[in-house]
Formats: sequence, C-alpha cells, structure tokens
Amino acid sequence: VRKLIERVQKLGLTFETIAPDHGPIWRKDVGRMVGAYASWAEQKPTKKAVVLYDSMWGSTERMARAIAEGLAEGGATPRLLCLKAHHRSDVATEILDAGALLVGSPTLNNGLFPTLADAMTYLKGLKPRNLVGAAFGSYGWSGESVRHLNAMLDDMCVERLGDGVKVQYVPDESTFSACHALGMDVAGRLAELVET
Ligand SMILES: Cc1cc2nc3c(=O)[nH]c(=O)nc-3n(C[C@H](O)[C@H](O)[C@H](O)COP(=O)(O)O)c2cc1C
Repeated sequence: VRKLIERVQKLGLTFETIAPDHGPIWRKDVGRMVGAYASWAEQKPTKKAVVLYDSMWGSTERMARAIAEGLAEGGATPRLLCLKAHHRSDVATEILDAGALLVGSPTLNNGLFPTLADAMTYLKGLKPRNLVGAAFGSYGWSGESVRHLNAMLDDMCVERLGDGVKVQYVPDESTFSACHALGMDVAGRLAELVET
C-alpha cells in the first residue's frame, strides 16, 4: 500500500472518486481518505492497547478488567472490547491505530469460545503488523484456550510477551496481580516502542 501511494503521488494525479473493488465508493474528501490509508498502512505502534475478550460467567471478563487497570497504570490507553457488544469489524477498526492486542477466552469444549475464534480468524486475514500482545482466560479442567490464542498471536506475528495468564474457574487475588502485572509489562513495552 505504501509503495502504491508513493507511486501515485509521484505521478501527480488528482482523483475525484475512489471506487474500491468492494466497499463504499468515496466521492468527497478523497485526499483525506488517501492520507488516512497511508497512515493506517504505516501501522506505527501507539500506546493504545486493545483488550479483546468474551466470557460466559464473568471470570475472563474480570481478568480483562485487571489487565486494563495494569495497562492504564503503566501509561497505556486500554480499550476493552467484549465480543458480546462489538462486531468483528469494530475490533478491526480499533486495531488500526493500536500498539497492542491482548486477547482472552474461556475454554469451551477443549477450544476457544466461538466469538474469539471468529474475531481472531478475521483479524489474522487483515494482517495487522507491529503489535505486541498476550493471551489470557479462565478454564474449568483442561484449559486449552490460552494455548490456542498464543498460537494464533504467533501466527499473526504479534510480539508475544510471555505465555499469558490462565486461571481455573474464578480468578483470585494472585490471578488479578498476574493480570495487572501483564498489563504493566505490555504498557512498558509500548512505551519503549513508541519512544524509539
Ligand atoms: C459448555 C461448556 C463447555 C466447557 N468446556 C470446557 C473444556 O473443554 N475445558 C475446560 O477446561 N473448561 C471448560 N468449560 C469450563 C469453563 O471454561 C469455565 O467455567 C470458565 O471458568 C468459564 O470462564 P468465564 O467465566 O470467563 O466464562 C466449559 C464450560 C461450558 C459452559
């Protein structure tokens, strides 16, 4: 995208309409859209951290909130996105200018909660780059969700900070501390990346 925008700029062409092969046709303010596209394509890390999760009984949700507190305390800007309230497209929009993706799922039938499988499959296809991240989640007995999320984050080339946080059933104080510490770690890494 960056190469193409550079080439187009060198040609000195002006455009009245952008008609992509799918999606809406842009007829006004075309320059602003090209500028926005150029800046999204750069994928520069920012201090915004998306905390993406779903939860059946609230344990993974409470972990997400503790991670968000750690992120905020470390100087990052958390954006909590529960997949009960947010469509996968909202998540993709939020990721555009984020520097981190923390993703949480309960274990369901030895795997991921379906909304997480959906959103992560969609995100992977959009090939976001320059993200740091980690996984978390609650489980009952076998606890595969965090391992699956770690593999997906690796597949997406996310710089993963550790093996994540998992807890059996309801999180206790030590889990909240681990979640808080994870948020602080990610915030620290974002500060390094944004400053360099
Ligand atoms: C239908 C169903 C299937 C589940 N399957 C598994 C499983 O295969 N392995 C496991 O470790 N826990 C399993 N669990 C337990 C949940 O992962 C556990 O209750 C967890 O604490 C839920 O987290 P939440 O409060 O964030 O929803 C299952 C729970 C339900 C309701």
